[in-house]
Amino acid sequence: MSNFLTSSIGKKLIMSLAGLFLVTFLLVHLGINLSLIIADSREPFNKAAHFMGTNVIVKALEFVLFGGFLLHMIYGVVLQLQNWFARPTRYKKENYSQTSFFSKFMIHTAVIITVFLVIHLFDFYLKAKFFGDVPLVVYDGKDYHDLGILVIEKFKLGWVVVFYIACFLLLAFHLLHGFQSAFQSLGINHKTYTPLIKAIGVIYTIAVTAGFIFIPVYVYFWM
Ligand code: HEM
Repeated sequence: MSNFLTSSIGKKLIMSLAGLFLVTFLLVHLGINLSLIIADSREPFNKAAHFMGTNVIVKALEFVLFGGFLLHMIYGVVLQLQNWFARPTRYKKENYSQTSFFSKFMIHTAVIITVFLVIHLFDFYLKAKFFGDVPLVVYDGKDYHDLGILVIEKFKLGWVVVFYIACFLLLAFHLLHGFQSAFQSLGINHKTYTPLIKAIGVIYTIAVTAGFIFIPVYVYFWM
């Protein structure tokens, strides 16, 4: 088993499973964030953020989430280093997923996304969890962190909006190759399914990126 996990295939498998978990997380995160601009008040967003921060099951999943991020990053770096130091292979296997433009920049986009993530966690998550400098708001006689006002204040700053949008576009670059590559690492390499998975990956990436970009733009101009 330990041999499998340190083998090239084992590393790719773990990376792809962690990557697909993160793909799911992004959808949930986007859904909650969109509630901030769709609803008439910040209440649904603040209550959803509170639920995500206090529910026991979600809190346990948070460990899985951060573990997933770490595994994905560590294995990504190890595989990239192995690739760089490997001798060029002489034969290429027939493959339905040729190297795309986006695949060449996975490690570069990954590094920038990691920097974004650290800044992003300091912007919101760590403030709410540890620093305690988030205003409180009362709903139905109960205190909640007003994370909604924090998001709105952040996205009223033009340079923050530009920075976030640039990072979302790089995330899109990463997802465009990453989505289909995860399925390939799981052994799905098929003349019908591979193009279908690629198409779903492109639709997913465009929808998620557009959704994330829409939030700071909407807050900046219309809230
Ligand atoms: C408009 C876009 C985004 C907004 C407004 C936003 C907002 C937030 C807020 C308010 C929190 C704190 C939630 C809490 O403490 O309960 C948070 C946490 C987090 N965000 Fe974002 N986020 C955005 C995009 C992203 C993206 C693109 C990623 C990943 C690449 C990401 C990754 C995370 C992670 C890992 C956490 C900590 C875990 C969690 O609380 O669920 N966020 N975000």
